[in-house]
Amino acid sequence: MTERTTTTTETTIGFPADFVWGAATAAYQIEGAVREDGRGESVWDRFAATPGKVRNGDTGEIACDFYHRYREDIGLMRELGLDAFRFSIAWPRVLPEGRGSVNQAGLDFYDRLVDELLANGIEPFPTLFHWDTPQALEDAGGWTVRATAEAFVEYAEVVAERLGDRVGHWITHNEPWVVSWIGHAEGRHAPGRASEADAVAAAHHLLLSHGWAVDAIRRAAPAAKVGITLDLLHMYPASHSPEDEAAARQMDGEHNRWFLDPVFRGSYPADLVERNELVAPHLRDGDLETIAAPIDFLGVNNYFRQVVAAGGERPRQLRPEGQYTDMDWEVYPEGLYRLLVRVAEDYSPPALYVTENGAAFGDIRGHDGKVHDPERTAYVEEYLGAVARAAAEGAPVKGYFVWSLLDNFEWDSGYSKRFGIVYIDYPTLERVPKDSFYWYRDFIASHRSVSRPSPSARTASE
Ligand code: FCB
Repeated sequence: MTERTTTTTETTIGFPADFVWGAATAAYQIEGAVREDGRGESVWDRFAATPGKVRNGDTGEIACDFYHRYREDIGLMRELGLDAFRFSIAWPRVLPEGRGSVNQAGLDFYDRLVDELLANGIEPFPTLFHWDTPQALEDAGGWTVRATAEAFVEYAEVVAERLGDRVGHWITHNEPWVVSWIGHAEGRHAPGRASEADAVAAAHHLLLSHGWAVDAIRRAAPAAKVGITLDLLHMYPASHSPEDEAAARQMDGEHNRWFLDPVFRGSYPADLVERNELVAPHLRDGDLETIAAPIDFLGVNNYFRQVVAAGGERPRQLRPEGQYTDMDWEVYPEGLYRLLVRVAEDYSPPALYVTENGAAFGDIRGHDGKVHDPERTAYVEEYLGAVARAAAEGAPVKGYFVWSLLDNFEWDSGYSKRFGIVYIDYPTLERVPKDSFYWYRDFIASHRSVSRPSPSARTASE
């Protein structure tokens, strides 16, 4: 079945022997079954049902039907040779109203999923929150109010108590910058608010709930490793002028340091004066200490870099010449290399995982029934090269999760963007592994044959 052979030695030897090879997904993007087994409504159900919010009026109602087909999909993961699978747990399946009564049938699904993964030798890497806030909580103020952070801890406790005996790695939140800014200031994502003050409040409560959840997970599963996933971008000043450098630093502050500093240093960056004024009313004594609870790893999601110039009231983002994906995201692997090295130097995380990286291209299924996606393979190969270089320079990168296993619901873009290494034929839900799937399978296997002569040679070193 091999579609392509490559010489991967150069990059594979750059990876530590116990490197974790994974693929990532998120509940609302793949599960479907939105009204099944007592699941409550989420902000994404509501948002997608609102005309004009999601391209083509697409919704997550069926998505990839992972809720029913997860066994088949775990078969694909096994064929890939994955060490780990990153998925998210849908809060409204577990607590349909966000807090209060627990829906056992919803929890049972994740119980079965975890067992099936483990039975296939694949480690579960669940994320507790990948954007599907229960609508009932949004109606009561959502992430702009502290009560939602308190509810999140109740939810984290319930899940950790049920799965903590089998799950060794937990991710509290996925990309709090996107939730707060795209969801609350730009309004392109659920819940679709358009207020900077709301975005700052949401970011603070997301971070606070992270800190509390770290503690809740540790209580339920003392041996587990706990982390958070941030979307980070390396900011390149458009020139060496002091103005452009300052603009890049400002963007770095707003996007990266606003989250990295509280998590690793227990403070918000002082140079963002207006932002600090907005967060002040929400800050209570002890919050920053809570947010800075020691974590075992940082998850990094990265797809592109940003080139920033001074100008006007706000820094401007430039669009350099180069290759772009179907999302209009620049292909720039060097940006991931620089990012990992910088985060390692500035924040000394105990471990890093690239919890998402990948590319959307306009894939089509050919007359041969196959999906040839050489651009995606090249993208992943080059970005993996960047990861290997960062690891070789001492960044403690322990694993890589390709986004995504399956084509799926790409938020406001609906099903129009295909990120999977497996193609989904949406009318039939047939899974068709793309060429990049076979390439990734072979890449993982060749890495193992170089670095892991026998399974017993594998050691945990985190
Ligand atoms: C990230 C999200 C993920 C997916 C990719 C393409 O921002 O975490 O769910 O949509 O982008």
